[in-house]
Amino acid sequence: MNPALRRPLVAGNWKLHKTVGESTELVAALAKALPAEPTAEVVVAPVFTALSAVRDAAAGSAIAHAAQDVYWEASGAFTGEVSAPLLSDLGCSYVIVGHSERRQLFGESDEHVARKAAAVLGAGMVPIVCCGESLEQREAGETEAHVLSQVGAALAGLSEGDLAKVVIAYEPIWAIGTGRTASPDDAQQVHGAIRGLLSERFGSALADGTRILYGGSVKPGNAAELMAQPDIDGALVGGASLESDSFAAIVAAAQA
Ligand code: 13P
Repeated sequence: MNPALRRPLVAGNWKLHKTVGESTELVAALAKALPAEPTAEVVVAPVFTALSAVRDAAAGSAIAHAAQDVYWEASGAFTGEVSAPLLSDLGCSYVIVGHSERRQLFGESDEHVARKAAAVLGAGMVPIVCCGESLEQREAGETEAHVLSQVGAALAGLSEGDLAKVVIAYEPIWAIGTGRTASPDDAQQVHGAIRGLLSERFGSALADGTRILYGGSVKPGNAAELMAQPDIDGALVGGASLESDSFAAIVAAAQA
């Protein structure tokens, strides 16, 4: 990371885990485990049903909260969906969009991801736009082409002001929940390519200011080495964010 240009961001994606009570307990424990003013921005993304309780439990701490998904229409006959204005109403600062689990299990396309990112920005929040290749794509040498096409599609049509706010998360699918992490060099290569695309399309000032997180089996033992890479500006953490000590250790690894 380059802290002169980009404040590191460490986000915990709790996925489909934890009741309201368990979520508030985790936030309270995390608030205790963190320094009062961590170097990194710290964000947790609980399930929708725990968002307001997490907001209350995090009040007065350095912990911001995020949603894991969103629908792009603001309101209407869309049974079961949750919109960006409703998430903003709950005080969310960030929304994860285009996670590979959404793309793979729920059929989200690049177009859906772009609409979601625009809706999040339109409601005054920041999208964390996920991208990443499958093992087959990596083995076929298609990693960069695939990831860059996902990023390009997600950002197409955004204004310069909106683009400057977006956070990108590179999460190789084969590294998610598997204990298998991309090596710092391999991750850096993809992060560098993403920043290169941003620079080419939108200019170097925008590219230099955009935070690109790494996700995929980030743990206390590998976080510092990953975030020490010049183009890795933080982490999107799944499993290790479900426990306060391990997540706090990853936040601490971003201090350096
Ligand atoms: P793990 O850290 O459990 O591999 O999950 C990563 C992830 O998908 C975060 O969004």
